[in-house]
Amino acid sequence: MESIYIHGGVALQGQVRIQGSKNAVLPVLAATVLIEGTSIIENCPRLLDVYHMQALLKSLGCVCLWDGEKLKVNAAGVDLVHALGGMPQDAAKGMRSSIILLGALLGRTGEVRIEYPGGCVIGERPVDIHIEALKKLNVQFEETIQGLYAYTDRLRGAEIDLPVPSVGATENSILAAVLAEGITIIRGAAREPEVVTLCEFLSACGADITGGGSSTIIIKGVEKLSGAQFRIPGDRIVAGTYLCACMAAGGEVLLKEAPVEQMQAVLHVAEQMGACCQQAKEGLYVQMHERPLTLEKLVTQPYPGFPTDMQSPFLSVLTLAKGTCIIEENIFENRFHTVPYLQAMGAAVQQTDAHHVKVSGVEELHGFTVSAKELRGGAALVIAGTAAKGETVVDGCRFIERGYENICRDLRELGVRIYGV
Ligand code: UD1
Repeated sequence: MESIYIHGGVALQGQVRIQGSKNAVLPVLAATVLIEGTSIIENCPRLLDVYHMQALLKSLGCVCLWDGEKLKVNAAGVDLVHALGGMPQDAAKGMRSSIILLGALLGRTGEVRIEYPGGCVIGERPVDIHIEALKKLNVQFEETIQGLYAYTDRLRGAEIDLPVPSVGATENSILAAVLAEGITIIRGAAREPEVVTLCEFLSACGADITGGGSSTIIIKGVEKLSGAQFRIPGDRIVAGTYLCACMAAGGEVLLKEAPVEQMQAVLHVAEQMGACCQQAKEGLYVQMHERPLTLEKLVTQPYPGFPTDMQSPFLSVLTLAKGTCIIEENIFENRFHTVPYLQAMGAAVQQTDAHHVKVSGVEELHGFTVSAKELRGGAALVIAGTAAKGETVVDGCRFIERGYENICRDLRELGVRIYGV
């Protein structure tokens, strides 16, 4: 799908099921290489990043089979030859999560060559913290222009103090520690729900992990892991995206299987802006019947704070709110790619430096041809188009397909006149 066409300005109405979480399933799929038997991953979303991970697993000797919404992974064939053989470049470069194969493969084969990861164009995304953490577990590194060569004679448990609560570095440390000799303590760990999901999956496979979801995680190395059947929770960012579409265009929607518990910071902000959000048996019920109210300031923070992935979608909503808001992006720089396009749609928004924008709400946006430059920014432009009067065309939609199974189908179920070509 290259472009999305939206005839906006109509309030949303209806219900949609929220797909399984992208950011939760990718580390779980990476973890399957630690397991010699078969893992069955239920509620696995069918999206570009999952297909990229599937290609990487295949290149490592895994057999991956889809069965409806389940992905079965058998990693019996993973060996040193595959781990050193090089991974398909387009898949490794296409997404940031390829880096978490590092910890998993060290646990399985003790030696790995890996490309520097790709992903969205949202500022500097170094891997120094991943490397320093793994060095503590007795891993040696050689850095080359193409990527990293990492090896260990034996992974050994250690105390790791993360300087910032990096989600990826926490996941890599966990993956390397589960089969290491002895005890690993990760301090300053990321508390994101995706880290909890990874710990739950590994525990279901026989790992000994405590403290997932807190800033201290303790892992006692075990001899081996065996396959498990495991369900991926709903995607909190996809649910948040459709919440924003409803806030921008108005209406009443039910987001089935939305992981409400994981969305507290987002729901708090949505309610301050005038949305009525209720936890229902099936998921999240949202009503928005007035123009959104603005906030004084919206600040992104590590979990349980307001997530960086929801910053662009909320910027789209704030372009229509009553009053002026400052957004402060603290996790990444360069995450305001939508600003010139929102301006072209009639928004009063200015980027003041790499980490701040100032947005004064206008009464309405108008349709325009805009371009997705990265995943969440692309979804944010779809939200703006859903609320705007007239026709919006969003080009560059391959980025959106990295994280949304079918954003057009989902929004059509909520009554939006939208189609992709
Ligand atoms: C980040 C988000 C995660 C989101 C994902 C996809 C946070 C804390 N993490 O995870 O919620 O789902 O993007 O958009 O919000 N850093 C380093 N060196 C490293 C690793 C990270 O300096 O080796 C820095 C990053 O530049 C960033 C911060 O640490 O400023 C957090 O990064 P990290 O959590 O690792 O990013 P992701 O795992 O990609």
